[in-house]
Formats: sequence, C-alpha cells, structure tokens
Amino acid sequence: MKLSAAVLCALVAVQAAVLLATLPSAQAKELEVGYYSKKCKGVENVVKWHVVRALKANRRTGAALVRLLFHDCFVRGCDGSVLLDASSDNPHPEKEAPVNIGLAAFDLLEEIKAAVEKRCPGVVSCSDILIYAARDAASVLSNGHVHFAVPAGRLDGFVSKAEEAQAELPDSTHDVQQLIDNFAKKNFSVEELVILTGAHSIGQGHCSSFRGRLSEPSSQINPAYRDLLNYKCSQGSDPPVDNNVRDEDYGVVARFTPGFTSRVRKVPDFLDNSFYHNNLAKIVTFHSDWTLLTHKEAFGHVVEYRDNGTLWDEDFSDLLLKLSKLPMPAGSRGEIRKKCSVVNHRLY
Ligand code: HEM
Ligand SMILES: *[C@@H]1O[C@H](CO)[C@@H](O)[C@H](O)[C@H]1NC(C)=O
Ligand SMILES: *[C@@H]1O[C@H](CO)[C@@H](O)[C@H](O)[C@H]1NC(C)=O
Repeated sequence: MKLSAAVLCALVAVQAAVLLATLPSAQAKELEVGYYSKKCKGVENVVKWHVVRALKANRRTGAALVRLLFHDCFVRGCDGSVLLDASSDNPHPEKEAPVNIGLAAFDLLEEIKAAVEKRCPGVVSCSDILIYAARDAASVLSNGHVHFAVPAGRLDGFVSKAEEAQAELPDSTHDVQQLIDNFAKKNFSVEELVILTGAHSIGQGHCSSFRGRLSEPSSQINPAYRDLLNYKCSQGSDPPVDNNVRDEDYGVVARFTPGFTSRVRKVPDFLDNSFYHNNLAKIVTFHSDWTLLTHKEAFGHVVEYRDNGTLWDEDFSDLLLKLSKLPMPAGSRGEIRKKCSVVNHRLY
C-alpha cells in the first residue's frame, strides 16, 4: 500500500498529539530521596562507580559535572534540557548558547545512561542521572566534605533553546547587581549567590570568558596574576585556563606570581573555600567573581566563607540541593529519555 505524503504527515501529527496527551505532567509528583530504591535498585551505586572511574582517569571531568548541574537546573529547571543535541527539529539547543561555552562530560553521562538502561530500561531519567553524577563528583573533589542526599523522580524535558539559556544564565561580564537580579529570579539570595560562586575553586575557563579582565586596573586584579593570564592566553587562539591559580603549572606560577608558588597543588580541582581567599587577593579570572567584592553584603559573605571552610562545605552542599530542586515551568511535560542527547519521539 502506498500512502500519500499528506496522509502520512497527518498520521504522524495525530500520533504525536496522542503521545503528547498521554505523557505525564512533569510536576505530577514530589521528588523523593530513594525514589529508585524499588524501581531500579542500586542505580545510585552504578552512577557513582562510573563517576569515580571517570574522575580517576581525568579529575577535570568533575568540574564539568558540577557546572552542568547549575546550567541544567537554571534553565527550565532540572530537566536534562542542556543535554539535548541539535536536531533538524531543534537546530539551536541550549548547548549552542555562548554562555554554555566549555560544557563537557556529555559522553560520560551517555555512558552512565547506557549502563542504567541495561539494568532497568526506561525507568531512570537523564535529569536524575545528571544530579546524581554531579553530587558524586562534588563529593570526590571535596574529599567527601560536600555531600547531600538527592531527591529524585525528575522527568526529561522536550524543550531546549539556546536563546533561553543565554537569557537565564549569568554572564562572566556581569556586574554584581546583574548577578543578584539574575539569582533572585530563581529565588536565590545575595548570600546564596556568594556561596554558589565558590564553585569556581575548580575547573577552567576560556580566555574569551575573561578577556576584559586582562586590561582591568590593578585595583580590580592583581597585576602579576593579570600578567600570568595574559601569558596563558597568548598560548593559543582561545585556550582554557585554570580557574584556581593553585592548579596552574608550577613553572608559570614561579615566573609570574612567585609569591603564590606555595599554593600550587599536585592534585588539581579540589573543591573548597579557596575561591574566597583568591577573590580577596584579586586573583580570580572572571569579572563576575571580582564584582562580588563591590557590594557590601556580598563582600561580607566573601569574608565569612574565606574564614570558615567547614561552613562553606555545608552551605554549598545545601545549595546544590536547592539548585537540584528547581522545577520545570508549570504545565511542562516530560519523559524518560532512552538516550540523553535526543528526545524519544519526534513530535512533528
Ligand atoms: C555567579 C554567576 C556565574 C558566572 C557568571 C559563571 C561563569 C562561568 C564561566 C564563564 C565559566 C568558564 C566557561 C568557559 O569559558 O569554558 C565557568 C566555569 C565554571 N563554573 Fe561558573 N559561573 C557562575 C556560577 C557558577 C555556579 C553557581 C556554579 C556551580 C554551582 C559554577 C560552576 C562552574 C564550574 C565548576 C566551572 C568550571 C567548569 C569546567 O572546568 O569544566 N559556576 N563559570
Ligand atoms: C520562587 O518563589 C516564589 C514564591 O514562593 C514561587 O512562586 C516561584 O515559583 C519560585 N520560583 C522558582 C524559580 O522556583
Ligand atoms: C564554622 O562553621 C561551622 C559549621 O557551621 C561551625 O560549627 C563553627 O563553629 C564555625 N567556626 C568558626 C571559627 O566560626
């Protein structure tokens, strides 16, 4: 039998409509700790095993996972929307937003998803796997000091738009008031903004993300550190540079900022309150980080968290948890994706 193209299209449209109508509403149920304990026993151990193995091979992947939690949850809630690849239906997903430069660890999440699908097909969402993996990465990178129980039961969304990511996520050129307004839209306070920004004790940023810093006055950036950044950025077209000076090559630190050689560590990406020490010494890469010092309340919290690392570990754990509960927009629908980079069904 030969169907005409028009009939075929109509059929597909009807199918899509039926499919949409039967999809669960994303906010139907509350998130629950141990959500998969019966549905997919041991899933959290599977995720952890893969994350630990990946971080042993390359510790840098841990920073990518922590950043993914933030970038997923701040845009349409924690719905795995940041994981979707471009497709003919959706040529410009969140991944393509300039503000999402440098996002990574997508392959690791796909590997974990495949392992979980083998164990319990169609049960565990990519958005939950992402939160579990980021939680485990934060725990490994902090030697267990950052830890929290993850409530689960999220669904994977269908919508992923670069322009939405660009509008919702903060930019590294923002001033403190822009950051405060941006975080307030998601119900995060000035103090919570300061605590979350401490995540920049780990990972890297591209030179294009702090180009303006290279010519800021010495009242805003330690001039020796500025020289170091200028040197690093002259080594390629837009190379990534360590966010934390103590993760930098010993030789480079010795050459530009000899006063900091004692800070250099053999193991990079240790998640702790060092960001606040660095910030007060004006040795941070992003303008947005430095600008926290220009606001009275924010400045007070920078000092507070510099002076108490234990307090930061605890409060940062609580705030990753708070981020992980950001909901999808009211009325959104979701599914359990088979693969994290694509929606299960084309809807048209
Ligand atoms: C306050 C507003 C924030 C701004 C403007 C900002 C901006 C940035 C930028 C520009 C980069 C480097 C991207 C690149 O050039 O490759 C970066 C990296 C990173 N950010 Fe943020 N960020 C903010 C808050 C956060 C928060 C809340 C978290 C997590 C809780 C976070 C975690 C990270 C991590 C872990 C990296 C390193 C990623 C890697 O090495 O793969 N950031 N951020
Ligand atoms: C922020 O809180 C208000 C009031 O409790 C609530 O209506 C709103 O949905 C929350 N926004 C987000 C993004 O969670
Ligand atoms: C640091 O914070 C911890 C955890 O909240 C608290 O128990 C401790 O008393 C604080 N230490 C100082 C020196 O303030």
